[in-house]
Amino acid sequence: MGYDAKFRVWRGDPDGGDLRDYTVEVNEGEVVLDIIHRLQATQAPDLAVRWNCKAGKCGSCSAEVNGRPRLLCMTRMSTFAEDELVTVTPMRTFPIIRDLVTDVSFNYEKAREIQSFTPPPDLKPGEYRMRQVDVERSQEFRKCIECFLCQDTCHVVRDHEENKNAFAGPRFLMRVAELEMHPLDVADRREQAQQEHGLGYCNITKCCTEVCPEHIKITDNALIPLKERVVDRKFDPVVWLGNKLFRR
Ligand code: SF4
Ligand code: F3S
Ligand code: FES
Repeated sequence: MGYDAKFRVWRGDPDGGDLRDYTVEVNEGEVVLDIIHRLQATQAPDLAVRWNCKAGKCGSCSAEVNGRPRLLCMTRMSTFAEDELVTVTPMRTFPIIRDLVTDVSFNYEKAREIQSFTPPPDLKPGEYRMRQVDVERSQEFRKCIECFLCQDTCHVVRDHEENKNAFAGPRFLMRVAELEMHPLDVADRREQAQQEHGLGYCNITKCCTEVCPEHIKITDNALIPLKERVVDRKFDPVVWLGNKLFRR
């Protein structure tokens, strides 16, 4: 059965904006993105929203629903009471372009700062061999759809513009961890993780893990192991060398 929902949506641009109230029809099985699209079709044709797949796989429709970082296409209307006010706002950590659309180029800049996969120079394509356990570790991290909800929620940058230069954020520290733990990557990324990507800013609050729509255990499987490696290096380089050489 359909019903009318109360929606409050942020409308504006880099110069400012405000929350506007709408009443929109909701039908069974719909998600928040469906309601935003109905709003565009019936009442607010100039409402800006970014989306693509409507299947939780492109990472485009990231925003905040009732203050929580969410994919609009994966947030079911059935999770709210029919008389509940649903507030939709853009991701808070990134600059506004218009309405629900933010400029996420911070993330692309951080991606470019990471040294790419660096295999041994004498290893030819086709000669790469890895243990299954190492393949599976990378596969978990490769599920990332680059929605940047983890980047949006991390308190290190969420309300601290001044930290953005020095902190890559959970998505990209996870990439550094993936490469650092990769048995065929010969770069030593621990110094960079600490000095260039700001690993020390992370105090393992795990908020990033909680919002990840792919359920990647960012903190437990990437950030904490990376921190352990950095500590190993600081206090006992022999331990690190042992790990790198024998735990393959
Ligand atoms: Fe999104 Fe998860 Fe990737 Fe972060 S790690 S960008 S939350 S899919
Ligand atoms: Fe931020 Fe995740 Fe660390 S939310 S503080 S990167 S555990
Ligand atoms: Fe692709 Fe939501 S539209 S993840």
